[in-house]
Amino acid sequence: MKPTLDGLFERATTFPDIDAKERLANLVGLDDQIARLSKILGLLINPSSLLQWAKTHHPQAAVLVDTVLRRPPLVVLAGDVGSGKTELAETIGDAVAREQRVSLTLLPLSLASRGDGRVGQMTQLISAAFDAAAEHATRYKSTGKTSGGVILLVDEADALAQSRESAQMHHEDRAGVNAFIRGIDRLANGRLPAAVIMCTNRLTALDPAIRRRAADVMTFGRPDDLQRTFVLQTRLAPLGFKATDIAALVATTGSRHENGAGFTFSDLTQRLIPAIVLDAYPDNAITASRALDIARSMSATPPFLDGHEFVRV
Ligand SMILES: Nc1ncnc2c1ncn2[C@@H]1O[C@H](COP(=O)(O)OP(=O)(O)O)[C@@H](O)[C@H]1O
Ligand SMILES: [Mg+2]
Repeated sequence: MKPTLDGLFERATTFPDIDAKERLANLVGLDDQIARLSKILGLLINPSSLLQWAKTHHPQAAVLVDTVLRRPPLVVLAGDVGSGKTELAETIGDAVAREQRVSLTLLPLSLASRGDGRVGQMTQLISAAFDAAAEHATRYKSTGKTSGGVILLVDEADALAQSRESAQMHHEDRAGVNAFIRGIDRLANGRLPAAVIMCTNRLTALDPAIRRRAADVMTFGRPDDLQRTFVLQTRLAPLGFKATDIAALVATTGSRHENGAGFTFSDLTQRLIPAIVLDAYPDNAITASRALDIARSMSATPPFLDGHEFVRV
């Protein structure tokens, strides 16, 4: 049975979108990734802007421009859990839509919550997702000048991304990888205003054939002292936390022993901060000393062990 479009994607978003704009603005320490990703997506969706640039600066550069425009429309976001991959992938379309003055549709496919293991499921799912993306993108293209584009988000792609070389890999997974590669090539060959963002926690497990096709692989890491300071300060300083209180929290949420990992972004925003609030609520006010106790009692999410190799991102 072919999956229906409704069941295929989580809520589709159309950009510009004010909520996405705010979420994107709240991401800390990702300026470089944001700049690179929006540039790549902007070119994939609106290649005429690169042609315009070439006309101005390098009128003889047709081959050069063609080389760039023929890159497969795939960007991989890789790195630790809770480092902002999903958040960025879900919201970057807003920046691109505003810069390019077009409308963008995000089609988010989550593989983690999909596929019940039936033979052929993964392959069908992926093929259907690319069909839908291509159909959408064709609609944008057919109006003459590019009026918009599509971002297909393949989140938590670890299941799919498994290396085909891995001995344990089930035949079905291999077929999923092949369907994915076919889909990418199809978007590229059709020169459709569409791009694929793939998120994975395990870069080294990514199939070499997929990795080779990526126009860019961006890595995401844990927040450093300055970034943790920023995240904690924006939330706790308004409550009267002093600089020394914040500094103590920053130290506690950092690496506590040699080679130990500090808190992830999501450890801070989804575990520590809510724990501090819920500890005080409903009868007490939040205090710095209580907050510090809570931080001390929590430990950081263990780094993802990528095969036998510890991947520092
Ligand atoms: N760079 C960041 N700056 C601020 N908050 C972040 C950042 N990265 C993650 N977060 C917080 O952690 C949550 C989970 O991030 P998410 O993007 O889902 O992580 P993952 O990398 O596992 O996909 C976000 O909703 C946000 O609250
Ligand atoms: Mg994620």
